[in-house]
Amino acid sequence: MKSSKKILSLLQELKKKDKDKSFFQQSMKNLQLDEGDLKDLTYFKKSNYTRNLLEKNSEFELIVLCWEKGHKTPVHDHNGSLCWTKVIEGEVLESVYKRNLVENWRFCSPVASTTNLKKGAVSFISDKVGFHSFECRSLKAVSLHLYCYPIEYCHTYDLSFQTKKKRELSYDSVQGMIVS
Ligand SMILES: [Fe+2]
Repeated sequence: MKSSKKILSLLQELKKKDKDKSFFQQSMKNLQLDEGDLKDLTYFKKSNYTRNLLEKNSEFELIVLCWEKGHKTPVHDHNGSLCWTKVIEGEVLESVYKRNLVENWRFCSPVASTTNLKKGAVSFISDKVGFHSFECRSLKAVSLHLYCYPIEYCHTYDLSFQTKKKRELSYDSVQGMIVS
């Protein structure tokens, strides 16, 4: 693995025993990381943002997303996992949607809040908080995402048609090796 010292020490910390939600939150907040620390682990594509796996074990998953301007995710849930996002470079707009209680929690309401996440910002979401989507607002952006527990699949939501789809999650690179 081509990880920097900072990534290795983050992974060491995240593997400590007796962790709780605030431990993960604090670890992400304390983390001082630049794009250079992720050299050899970032991978950009013109067509879409990329998902790049750094670590996956029974407790958590750590991935890096690499964005170009205009790249966006669909509105999605996190299949019961807790999710922290830290922007390492650039700006990413996060839109949060509340779950709709009426339709058996299947669908979500129009956007409840939007936040322009700049370098160093940390955001948290879980299915209890709601669903979200991201859009890259700068020429390029890099963000770090911590999932507890790992996510094999999520659901995406089309707000116009109020439909929900299961989406298997894949990677564009794994520990610096391009796989797609
Ligand atoms: Fe997400």
